Amino acid sequence: MSFSLYSTLRPLLFTLDAEKAHGMTLCAMKRGLVPAGEPVVDPMLEQALWGIRFPNPVGLAAGFDKNAEAIGAAFNLGFGFVEAGTVTPKPQDGNPKPRIFRDPRNEAVINRMGFPNGGMHVFKENLERFYSAKSKPDGVLGVNIGMNKAQKEPAKDYARLITMLGPMADYLTINISSPNTPGLRDLQSREPLMALLDAVKDARDKACRTNPPPLLVKFAPDLSEEQIEELAQVALDAKIEGLILTNTTLERPSFLNPKFADEAGGLSGVPLREKSTAIIRRFFQRTEGSIPIIGVGGVSRAEDAYAKIKAGASLVQLYSGLVYQGPRVAQKINTGLIELLNADGHVSLSTAIGCEAI
Ligand code: FNR
Repeated sequence: MSFSLYSTLRPLLFTLDAEKAHGMTLCAMKRGLVPAGEPVVDPMLEQALWGIRFPNPVGLAAGFDKNAEAIGAAFNLGFGFVEAGTVTPKPQDGNPKPRIFRDPRNEAVINRMGFPNGGMHVFKENLERFYSAKSKPDGVLGVNIGMNKAQKEPAKDYARLITMLGPMADYLTINISSPNTPGLRDLQSREPLMALLDAVKDARDKACRTNPPPLLVKFAPDLSEEQIEELAQVALDAKIEGLILTNTTLERPSFLNPKFADEAGGLSGVPLREKSTAIIRRFFQRTEGSIPIIGVGGVSRAEDAYAKIKAGASLVQLYSGLVYQGPRVAQKINTGLIELLNADGHVSLSTAIGCEAI
C-alpha cells in the first residue's frame, strides 16, 4: 500500500472506532494484505547493540502487536525491530471499550487499554509459529512484559514471564510505565525498582543460561528532574542494559481538542514528541551515554527520528506514527535518515548518537 493509497484509505479507517480499525489492520497484516515495500538496506543504518545486529534503527513500539500475532508482517513493512506485548502471565480483558481515541488534527492518540492480551501461553504459541515459518524476515524481536492487574507482588509476574518467554526474545522490556495499570508507575523509584531488577535478573539468568537477552526498562515521560536523576543512578547501579524512553504521558497540552483531552489514559503521537526527546537527552547526559537508549514518542518523520538520535537514542520506535502516516512510515523514515546523516557528514549512525546532548 503506497502512501497516497493510505491517504485515500485513512479517512475511511478513521470513520471506524480506533480499536476496530486497529483490529482490521492487524488482521490484514496477518493475511498478507498489506503489501511489503522495498526494504531500505544501507550499511549506514546498521548497528550492533548488545551483540545483536539491527538492520535499521526504526522499530515498531509495544502495544501494536500485543499477542505477537503479526511479527513477520511488521518486519515486512521495513521495521528493523518489533517489540511485541505488553504480555501478562494470565489473559485479561483490559478496560471497558471504547479505550483508544484519536485527535487527527494533532496526530495524537489517547489510550487506556489496560493491557488486554491473551496471556503468556498464547503469546508463546504465536512466537513458536513465527520461529517455525520457512522464511523469516530480517529483524530483531523484543518482548515487552507487564504484570496482571490483580497482582500485588509484581516481581512474581515478571519472573514467570521471563522464565517462559525469555529464551525466545532477542531483548526483554520491563514495562513499569503504562499509566493504565494501577500502581505500575510506582515501581519507578529506587527501592522497588532495585528489588524488581534483582528478581528479573535472577529469573533471566536461570531461564537463559546460554545467550541471555538484554534487559531493558521502559519509563514514563512524566518524571521530575529529581526522579530522572534517581532513575538514571538506579540504571547505572543495577547495570540495566538499555532504556526505552518513553511511554505515553498523562499531560494534556492546551492545544488538544478539549473533548479528546478529557479522555482518561496515556497521550501519544506528535504532542509527546518534544517531551520524550527531552527525557532522552537528560538520561543520556546523566548516564554519560553508557546505556543504550531506544527513543519513542511522536516519531513520524525522519527529522523526528534524527532529533531523538542526536539527543542520545541509538534506536527509535513508533506506534502513533503508523496510525497517521500509514504502512510506509518505516521506509520513509529510513530513507530520510540516510539523507540527513549524509547532509551532516556522518558516515554512520553511531557518530550521530547523542551528538547534540552534550
Ligand atoms: C501503547 N503503548 C504501549 N506501551 C507499552 O509498553 N505496552 C503496551 O501495551 C502499550 N500499548 C499501547 C497501546 C496504544 C493504543 C498506544 C497508542 C500506545 C505505548 C507505545 O509503545 C509508545 O511508548 C507510545 O505510544 C509513544 O510512542 P508514539 O505512539 O508516540 O510513537
